[in-house]
Amino acid sequence: MKSINAIVLALIPLISFCAFQQVSYQSDLTPIINSKCLECHISPNGNGYRATGLIMDSYDALMQGSVYGPIIVAGDSQRSILNMLVEGRAGNTQKNLHNSGNALTRDEIKLFRVWVEQGAMDN
Ligand code: HEC
Repeated sequence: MKSINAIVLALIPLISFCAFQQVSYQSDLTPIINSKCLECHISPNGNGYRATGLIMDSYDALMQGSVYGPIIVAGDSQRSILNMLVEGRAGNTQKNLHNSGNALTRDEIKLFRVWVEQGAMDN
């Protein structure tokens, strides 16, 4: 019983830390975007831009999305195409391109998910 209490007490700060951690577009996401997305999602020559019109060099461009429409549903990472792709929940081509090799680490994937869940703010 004592040890269970100790475990519960040890978990409380951990859980509250996770719950209140605010993900920042500027300081958390732009470094990832710059190193792992921009080479393709930039105008005029990036092949991701050429294929879909998606530019990722600013918050506004990211939120504008692609020629098919927005790729982010603020507050809902389950329905956001961006999260689907990097989490491997999309079709095969996209899955291979965005969820293997030089794609995002688990921590980076989580940052995108939490940021979208927190409202995809320009923060
Ligand atoms: C090596 C080039 C390349 C890199 C790097 C890349 N993409 Fe892409 N991206 C593409 C191409 C090509 C497409 C269109 C075909 C496809 O989806 O596979 C695309 C499509 C997309 C789409 C779908 C747009 C739509 O409306 O259909 C999203 C969202 C996306 N990329 C996000 C990202 C994110 C986020 C990153 C960085 C983690 C990234 N991409 C890195 C090439 C790239």
